[in-house]
Amino acid sequence: MAPTILVIFGGAGDLSWRKLFPALFSLYCSGWLPENFAIVAADKKSMSLEEYREHIRNGIETFAPRYDSSLWSCFSEKIESYLVADLSEEAFYESLKHTLQQIATKWDSPPNWIFYLAISPTLIKTVVTHIGIAQLSEAPRESRIVVEKPYGHDLESANELDQCLGKVFKESQIFRIDHYLGKETVQNILALRFSNAWWEPIWDSRYIDHVQITVAEEVGVEQRGEYYEHAGALRDMVQNHMLQLLCLIAMEPPVSFDSDEIRNKKVDVLHAVRKISVDEVHQVAVRGQYGRGWIRGKEVVAYREEPGVKPDSSTETFAAIKLFVDNWRWQNVPFYLRTGKRLAKRVTQIVVTLKPIPHQAFPPRALDQWLPNRMILNIQPEESISLVFHAKIPGPVIRLSPVNLQFKYQEAFKKGSPEAYETLLRDVIIGDGTLFMRSDQAQAAWSIVDPILEFWQSTPPIDFPNYPAGSWGPEAAQVLIAKDGKSWYEGGF
Ligand code: BG6
Repeated sequence: MAPTILVIFGGAGDLSWRKLFPALFSLYCSGWLPENFAIVAADKKSMSLEEYREHIRNGIETFAPRYDSSLWSCFSEKIESYLVADLSEEAFYESLKHTLQQIATKWDSPPNWIFYLAISPTLIKTVVTHIGIAQLSEAPRESRIVVEKPYGHDLESANELDQCLGKVFKESQIFRIDHYLGKETVQNILALRFSNAWWEPIWDSRYIDHVQITVAEEVGVEQRGEYYEHAGALRDMVQNHMLQLLCLIAMEPPVSFDSDEIRNKKVDVLHAVRKISVDEVHQVAVRGQYGRGWIRGKEVVAYREEPGVKPDSSTETFAAIKLFVDNWRWQNVPFYLRTGKRLAKRVTQIVVTLKPIPHQAFPPRALDQWLPNRMILNIQPEESISLVFHAKIPGPVIRLSPVNLQFKYQEAFKKGSPEAYETLLRDVIIGDGTLFMRSDQAQAAWSIVDPILEFWQSTPPIDFPNYPAGSWGPEAAQVLIAKDGKSWYEGGF
């Protein structure tokens, strides 16, 4: 791996503390960082380098899967510099350049420079523009920039962001993070579909009845009320994570594992999603907001009572939508997506339900427990894949029962999965963009949700809060799917 300097803008923020440094430390412990590797952190908070290292050590101890004090002392030396920075000041970027050049003099070969924007979206354009002015995008070897979500607020702002980044970096240097794509179980969807002969022959509208994608969270908005007020569930989860899951389920087989090939196939899906007009939003999309309720036996406050949230907020904390992918493979197969905070259970799951068999030869009494065949991909917290099919109940008469054939990651591989950020940071370091959003993907995803956002904004909800914390969301979400004679999968078989 080439020598690398990683510059983290927002180095003293929550993302760096909870996610980035624990992931970097794990990479270091597993020998996945380049030998010549340095971290430069920049933030407005005033701290000495020693104080900063101690702050980071504390985060690693809390969040890294393992902490080893002897490895920490070597790792801590990789944190070369903490710069107290006003990111809107031109002078800062000159001194940053000087720091980077100084570090590089210690190494034999020229380094890559990676700029990680762990900062508020309002600062991105300022920082990128200054990186351009200071010519930091011209690293001795190559420079890369990592941009966190939210990537824009709608299609128009995502386009503006693209233009700003495009003036300074080439598309191949831009790494737009969607941390869901770094999850092992999400990547395994590609392995499951494209390294096995089992599924592909039935993976289309001839055999598949519908697909459900659920990302349910038990947590509320925690300390992120201010951010969430401007986001809502559709922007926060659907536009990015959930549409990416949809792409992995619906994409055509790639010709190779080349990063652009995979991303081409995924973007094709987004382009094929049937456009929803503003007039039909009420038929295909449901929103909700949690009121007070109970989670794991503890009473929790309503969204409108959370810190940073307006007492009459119309921000949705739940969204469910029905989409169609208008191509040969998926004609008229509904994809139901739902996500929400403060739901009954934390679960991220994809359920692929097959159509009924064409002819039922068994007598009705054999079928009293009949269920459709299903594949259930559990992304988190359980990491497993289940196939639900029918088997004969032992006994003299013919009676059938659904049974479950299950593959569990932990049992099969006897080791835990790396954190998403470990995978993604490593990919940035080696320059592999496969798991990152390309600009056309981000834009296509925005154009799917934009009409819904527009309609919801122009028609304030009159029934918020409309689901109690600890439930499965508003009743309208049940109606959305029940209208089609189906129901949300809620565990069991
Ligand atoms: C983030 C959202 O992108 O994903 C959060 O901003 C959400 O609101 C989180 O809680 C969920 O991620 P995970 O990995 O916990 O499913």
